[in-house]
Amino acid sequence: MAIHLVIPMYIISGSASKTVAEDLSHDTKSYLVKTESKRFPDDELYIRILEDISDEHVLIIQSTYPDRNIIELFLLQDAAEEAGAKEITTIIPYFGYARQDTKFKEGEPISAKALAALISLKTDRVITVDPHKEHILDFFDVSAFSCSAVTEIARYLEKKNINLVLAPDKGAVDRAESASKIINCDFDYLEKTRIDGKTIQIKTKNLEVKNKNVAIIDDIISTGGTMAKSIKELRKQGAKKVYVSCTHGLFAGEALKKLTNSGCDEIISTDTINSQFSKVKIAPCISRLLKSKIV
Ligand code: R5P
Repeated sequence: MAIHLVIPMYIISGSASKTVAEDLSHDTKSYLVKTESKRFPDDELYIRILEDISDEHVLIIQSTYPDRNIIELFLLQDAAEEAGAKEITTIIPYFGYARQDTKFKEGEPISAKALAALISLKTDRVITVDPHKEHILDFFDVSAFSCSAVTEIARYLEKKNINLVLAPDKGAVDRAESASKIINCDFDYLEKTRIDGKTIQIKTKNLEVKNKNVAIIDDIISTGGTMAKSIKELRKQGAKKVYVSCTHGLFAGEALKKLTNSGCDEIISTDTINSQFSKVKIAPCISRLLKSKIV
């Protein structure tokens, strides 16, 4: 159910999303609650909320990647409930497991749904950023909302004299189109076929990229395979500069090496997952959603 949230609120930051929490606290003039956390000798996590949040509306902010951050989120939700929070909004900048959003083969779980069900147990609503597919929001048993980083990424790319924004596949072309409107340039898409989790094929498509500065925009960079193949294709077709950008930079395994070796000029991601490439802040898009009457 949509209600108008009363801001300022109380913000509890998980360890995966500290910069987002600090920025959101600043943007919404909300209070950042002090917490304590440590690991037991066997690596189990201990957390504690150090201030009074009883009868308050609390925002818990935590990306659910890698796995250990999922447990931290559950503990924070439980601690907030135990401490008497009146209302809990869970903000998940990067919602992990979203790519297993269906049973591709018999015997598999629907991981995104399984995770959403558990997260829903101790929260009144969920907010996430660029979920892999929008229908994932329906997996939550509470109201769930998403916002997109495309505006923030496009504003960063605006400074790079971009002539063309590309989606790595047709399904993501709306994102490229939205970015192109802000940058004021053309947009198009590449033709990608996924063979398996690690192998993809980018089909040749004659794009007009010769001597142009091209930015590719995607939701996730994981193994870097999609981007690396796209970069090579663009280089083959004579692109001048190639920028790769994404909301969620996982950079798994050899991803960085692949991107660099394929000849990309810059890697850009947001801070939904912190890395040296988190050049774009995500908090403004979450603040806009919080201040809107949609949530
Ligand atoms: C796929 O549908 C996603 O939008 C990304 O293109 C994908 O997850 C990227 O994965 P990788 O970096 O492993 O190619």
